[in-house]
Amino acid sequence: MTYAFPDGFVWGAATAAHQVEGNNVASDFWVMENTPGTMFQEPSGDACDQLHRYPEDIALLRSLGFGSYRLSIEWARIEPEEGRFSVAALEHYRRVLACCHEKGVLPCVTFHHFTSPCWVAADGGWESQAIVDRFLRYCERATAHLGDLIYMGCTINEANLPVSLALAGVLPRQGLKGLAPFMAEAASRCGTTLDRFGPFLLGDPFKTRDVMLEAHCRARDVIRSGPGDFPVGITLAMQDLVAVPGGEAHLAEARAESFDVFLDAAADDDFVGVQTYSRTRYGPDGPLHPEEGVPVLAMGYEFWPSALEGTLRYAAERSGVPLYVTENGIGTDDDEQRVAYYREALQALIRCLDAGLDVRGYFAWSLLDNFEWIHGYGPKFGLVSVDRTTQQRTPKRSAGLLGDVARSGRFDSESFA
Ligand code: BGC
Repeated sequence: MTYAFPDGFVWGAATAAHQVEGNNVASDFWVMENTPGTMFQEPSGDACDQLHRYPEDIALLRSLGFGSYRLSIEWARIEPEEGRFSVAALEHYRRVLACCHEKGVLPCVTFHHFTSPCWVAADGGWESQAIVDRFLRYCERATAHLGDLIYMGCTINEANLPVSLALAGVLPRQGLKGLAPFMAEAASRCGTTLDRFGPFLLGDPFKTRDVMLEAHCRARDVIRSGPGDFPVGITLAMQDLVAVPGGEAHLAEARAESFDVFLDAAADDDFVGVQTYSRTRYGPDGPLHPEEGVPVLAMGYEFWPSALEGTLRYAAERSGVPLYVTENGIGTDDDEQRVAYYREALQALIRCLDAGLDVRGYFAWSLLDNFEWIHGYGPKFGLVSVDRTTQQRTPKRSAGLLGDVARSGRFDSESFA
């Protein structure tokens, strides 16, 4: 099977600041990673040192064949203390974006990808309404400084993730914060108490969702009114949700609470970013364990690359706006398994395009093996491996295959193997 993607289809790879830059010391996640007894496998440390190595990474992405780079800017660097904006940090990101343009790479910029400045998390964080105005002020400053260089903007990454994980049975419904003993110490290291500490992902999933939804809608308007004229949207964590007989009510609840709230609000967005890794099945008693016979990945979920078809179809039907796949990929040590994953995922994407869905681009997660949050450097999502001592980058076979599709705009199922 061969397929020619539409002209102008955007091909890219993605990363997030905290996962690749290194030494994001003013952020809430840095504190949590470094607190004794932490649930993080290891601290992020130097990460991939992208803070210094971004020209090499952008050149590499381009040489592989990709035309776009989805990266995030770090609020904790840009506003390390309340109201004190670091012009040096903003200038750093200006250099990063300028470097993208010099190399012929279109920058897709995410304003918030999980991490926040410590001072924000210490004062209620994403569980408090107070964050909304703070986030808007940060978005306004960042857009004023960088907007003319941005190709696409994503306000918040996966604002639905906490609810989605809670309804998939991965997180407790009341959040992890009160259940993880190290969090009280992390709060105190951030200069606050546990009840005031609100880092993303560990607090109350439903409160976080509602605060983030408001922050997204208002940030979209703030970003649009700054320099530059680029599309703005949100990215969502979307597993393909399926019900076995008796699981329909659980499926409906998960869809409504985790997807529809955002997809309905997206009518005023320029696009929705769909981020898919696997599927979640529901039975009469709620989420089900992986199905027997289906390989289970290091992240605990099933190898299920065709999930992308279900999520794109659902997002298109419910939102009615253009879609981008802003993340899709697999954490595995076996690059042949990654090749098989991308091969099937691209076929799922092609079925959606054939069916007339307005999907405008595809970003692989991730360009580099990087810091996988609580799991540390264990799971390898990169198209490019990174030596943890020398920082040397080495493209994997999957990078070559996907890069060829990106460069040529053509997929051939026989050669992608
Ligand atoms: C996040 C990434 C993460 C990836 C793989 C997504 O939920 O946006 O930061 O590394 O999944 O787990």
